[in-house]
Amino acid sequence: MRFALFLLLLPLLQHASLAIDPTCSAATNLTREALAYLSALPTRGSASSHRLGTSLPLGSFRASSPGNARRVAVAAAVADAWDAYAAAAWGRDELLPLSNAGADTFAEGLGTTIVDSLSTLYILGGLDGRYEAARAWVLESLDFGKVGRVVVFETVIRILGGLVSIYHLSGDEMYLFKAEELGARLAAGFETPSGLPWPRCYLNETGRCERHRHMDDALYLAEVGSVQLEYRALSHHSKHPLCKKMRGVTERIIDKLQTARSSAVRMSGRHAVLLPYAMLRTTGMYCTNMVTAGAPADSYFEYLVKVWVQGGKKEKVYWELFARVVDSMVEIGSYTSRYGDTIMRDMLPSSDDKVHFSHKMDHFACYIPGMIVLGLDGLRAEETERRARWVMFAENITETCYKMYAKSPSGLAGEHIRLNQEDKWKMSGGYQLRPEAVEAFFYMWRLTKKDKYREYAWTVFERIQQHCKVEGGGYAALRTAKSRHPKKEDVMHSFLISETFKYLYLIFGDDEKELPLDKWVFNTEAHPLLVTPGLSEGVEEGERREVAAESGHDEL
Ligand SMILES: *[C@@H]1O[C@H](CO)[C@@H](O)[C@H](O)[C@H]1NC(C)=O
Ligand SMILES: *[C@@H]1O[C@H](CO)[C@@H](O)[C@H](O)[C@H]1NC(C)=O
Ligand SMILES: *[C@@H]1O[C@H](CO)[C@@H](O)[C@H](O)[C@H]1NC(C)=O
Repeated sequence: MRFALFLLLLPLLQHASLAIDPTCSAATNLTREALAYLSALPTRGSASSHRLGTSLPLGSFRASSPGNARRVAVAAAVADAWDAYAAAAWGRDELLPLSNAGADTFAEGLGTTIVDSLSTLYILGGLDGRYEAARAWVLESLDFGKVGRVVVFETVIRILGGLVSIYHLSGDEMYLFKAEELGARLAAGFETPSGLPWPRCYLNETGRCERHRHMDDALYLAEVGSVQLEYRALSHHSKHPLCKKMRGVTERIIDKLQTARSSAVRMSGRHAVLLPYAMLRTTGMYCTNMVTAGAPADSYFEYLVKVWVQGGKKEKVYWELFARVVDSMVEIGSYTSRYGDTIMRDMLPSSDDKVHFSHKMDHFACYIPGMIVLGLDGLRAEETERRARWVMFAENITETCYKMYAKSPSGLAGEHIRLNQEDKWKMSGGYQLRPEAVEAFFYMWRLTKKDKYREYAWTVFERIQQHCKVEGGGYAALRTAKSRHPKKEDVMHSFLISETFKYLYLIFGDDEKELPLDKWVFNTEAHPLLVTPGLSEGVEEGERREVAAESGHDEL
């Protein structure tokens, strides 16, 4: 997960007027379609169209053998975290590890930790019946019709992404049905004049949606710009017209973000691809001039390249946008200190064509190296300098991310670092069990096969064991990272199992064929989705293939 909902009351400007462009309104009514879909739900037969144009068959993933001691240790940590959750918080969103209870961080009935853990448990070979228990809960107890208000973005990346991923890994159609239903219930939230979705919607009341609390009608870049992978995957496998339509609905958001006007100053020229981090749902106009690669913009940049990978690297428009983003990040966003530390800084363009910088980097921004690794394949053979620059930038950011841990008294990173006038570090915030740094080590390991990245990952894992493991079971975040004896915080985020432990497990794998990066693409919650070249062949082609498959001519 990237982008936490901090109350960001940074330079969020009020909009000038609310002129709604009538051509923006959808020609169809997604709410009505969702209602029709849901009313037909009990009588619906099989709606799936599987084994179509994915680069591997559905369900072809096989867990590899447990392997070496480090892997065994990470697997034991997953089992421990899971068991603590199952004992004290079963069916709730997350474990409160210190009070030994559960909390519905997102919504009652959503069982976020269960759904978010499915792909990890499966990749780990099911961990002796734990995966089956999770599956049984999804089948018997997960009832979206009884879930109230959810955050759309979180639900898409954790729950929809989790369900589609486990469908891809296991081939089990039950998950596809659940994913379709959830996709339809959330679809109504995209019914707005600007085409930008509502941030919060009720799953049990189709079409009832709300603003963020205390946020006027503002939306964040990450929450509208990182829902595409999940809906594209769903659209590919679902025969239902509404689910198919959602691919276009979510992809059009990316178009709109490029051309949207702004009530504040935007980055100019070639750097205009570095979009401001907030816009208004009503008009689609940007309402801040602040640019950041961290929260709450982050995963939008990441999804540009991941959408391209997902479609078999043919949808060039996404790669081109991504490549310009990386060039601008390197050229203007990055800063290398006199001590040789590279950070991604925040930017504030002003009307006199100047850009002001804040030398602050979020731990979130450690997703950048992975995103660059995924994009290298789009460079032409003769672009050797550009490639070298990108790789060096990815290496530099990875080093900084590791230093965030290594320089911290606890050995675990806080939420942000800031460089002062003398380029000295100041770290703030607690360690939130976040994955981005180990995610960077994982991608850099896959790219370079340099052992140091595995050593970095192992060091981080050892510090997690040392400081975050709770005596009675489970893991806790830390209130502050800057302490030799850090105090724990009463939360075990669902992304610990979904992301942090998954990347730690994968980095110690010896089998090169385990989830290869040209066959699988991880969403921003680390749920692997199948690379699906069929997505870049257009809807008509997809439908033709469906017919072919049904009549027995499997084109795989
Ligand atoms: C869409 O359909 C719903 C349910 O029928 C209705 O309440 C809503 O007003 C419609 N919206 C538009 C923009 O037509
Ligand atoms: C939907 O869920 C919310 C929260 O649980 C509840 O307050 C509301 O009454 C529910 N709506 C319906 C129609 O059941
Ligand atoms: C990477 O870091 C080195 C110093 O350690 C610096 O010279 C170089 O300019 C940096 N390059 C990029 C692309 O960040």
